[in-house]
Amino acid sequence: AESGHVHDFAFSFEGPFGSYDRAQLQRGLQVYTEVCAACHGLDLVTFRSLSDETGLGLEDDVMRAYAATMEVPDGDGGYRAASGPDHFPGSSMENAPDLSMMAKARAGFHGPYGLGINQLLHGIGGPEYIASFLTGFTGEETEQGGAIFYENTAFGGNVAMPPQLEDGLLEYADGTEATEEQMAQDVAAFLMWAAEPKLVERKMWGFIGVIFLALLASLLYLTNKRLWAPVK
Ligand code: HEM
Repeated sequence: AESGHVHDFAFSFEGPFGSYDRAQLQRGLQVYTEVCAACHGLDLVTFRSLSDETGLGLEDDVMRAYAATMEVPDGDGGYRAASGPDHFPGSSMENAPDLSMMAKARAGFHGPYGLGINQLLHGIGGPEYIASFLTGFTGEETEQGGAIFYENTAFGGNVAMPPQLEDGLLEYADGTEATEEQMAQDVAAFLMWAAEPKLVERKMWGFIGVIFLALLASLLYLTNKRLWAPVK
């Protein structure tokens, strides 16, 4: 789809040292569970990853209790309660896309603008797109071929998904006020975590790599000086 207006939200996981906000991811999981999961799936995400320290950090028993509220095929034609190693269910609605990689599959910022470094400075804007999409409904509806479509400014046209969020739609377990924008940002952050659960580790190892290379470079410089000292 041609993308329209995307707001540049300030997420905690941006920048070279950004990391996930645990409480926000947990709220996002709540929004996902109570709202999005009615139609969408998350079939690349395992329940046990909800216990990852750099992600939601759920206690093991809380994670297992959450998993047990879901059903997965038991391989024998029936269903059983899910456990840690199982994946979230897939989309239950045929035309609702799986959201596992959605934060990576959509871009909010497009280049080249100006110097062409828009995405380098702002990131690709997947979570910004999702949050803008959820808050971007204009209220305009059209019927095409018997189906209803909803105008959305981030989508840049009519989309088959009806608006989902409104102020006070749910009650957050942590007491945060559930405004439309709060829920949109929380679930967008959660979907970013789903798409890139190792973001914090990646940044940490990148930083360690840079320190290591800087150290190596200075040692090589000194070695070079020493080796060539008698020649000069
Ligand atoms: C599409 C997110 C709830 C039905 C999408 C897309 C996203 C999304 C990011 C992709 C838009 C694009 O292609 O750029 C969410 C989130 C939800 C939610 C975060 C919860 C807050 C729902 C619910 C339903 C639904 C409850 C069913 C009533 C659909 C459908 C599409 C879609 C049918 C495909 C639209 C199209 O391609 O025209 N959703 N959704 N969604 N969603 Fe949702």
